Amino acid sequence: MRLSMSLLSSLGKKIFMGITGLALSGFIVVHLIGNLALLNPDKDPFNKYAHFLTQSLGNVIYVAEISLVAIFLIHFSYAIIITIGNWMARPTGYKKVTNAKHTSRKTIASTTQIYTGIIIITFLILHLLHFKYGESIMYTTMDGQEIRDLYVVVYNFFSNIWNVIFYIAVMILLGFHLSHGFWSAFQSLGLNGLRFTPFVYGLGYVFAVVMAVGFIFFPIWVFFTTGGTL
Ligand code: HEM
Repeated sequence: MRLSMSLLSSLGKKIFMGITGLALSGFIVVHLIGNLALLNPDKDPFNKYAHFLTQSLGNVIYVAEISLVAIFLIHFSYAIIITIGNWMARPTGYKKVTNAKHTSRKTIASTTQIYTGIIIITFLILHLLHFKYGESIMYTTMDGQEIRDLYVVVYNFFSNIWNVIFYIAVMILLGFHLSHGFWSAFQSLGLNGLRFTPFVYGLGYVFAVVMAVGFIFFPIWVFFTTGGTL
């Protein structure tokens, strides 16, 4: 009872959002670094890496995947609870979003956080259907073993201009989401202070830009190296 009270308290919700947000940020950094193998013209290193992650780690990968799903679900559920709470707390709908200059961090990114979050979750479902569980999955033989040919799946996907445009659009929104989320996570965890805040705020922007530009780079790279179809 006490635990459920503290999980639903305003502070509890913020702390959970902060911790899960930072954990998801850590995941996308690792994902971006892993995807660098896609830039190699030889498909084996990327396929080997993906195979190692999913097949060679034994039960560790199941624990990691269940944890990742749980973290996404906690983050998303608390975001919905907090947003509904905020809406209900308002006596009337605000007509205009204003920025209280230095005392406030209200930006387009902060006021659209729930919408960019919903778009990212929707993107993720499509992303997994395409790259992890979908019919698009192909197979290749490496060292006498049949493994998933994810490299070719990714290259086929991004040889289509509409898929490239869709990814670029979502990655820009991901950048917006991270630019506010990163700073906000530190604030929720109380890891800021007068001198530290501008630094964390700046770091959040740099992180968001590096992640968005990094992920945008792959579809564009693949499209041009495959001479994709317009
Ligand atoms: C151009 C950008 C991206 C490419 C090329 C890409 C590629 C892939 C591939 C090939 C997989 C399947 C891995 C496997 O089954 O072993 C995958 C899984 C995944 N991707 Fe991405 N991805 C991109 C962007 C993103 C972004 C921006 C996110 C998060 C916001 C994301 C989240 C995930 C998740 C959660 C999984 C499942 C991981 C797992 O089950 O281990 N991806 N991605």
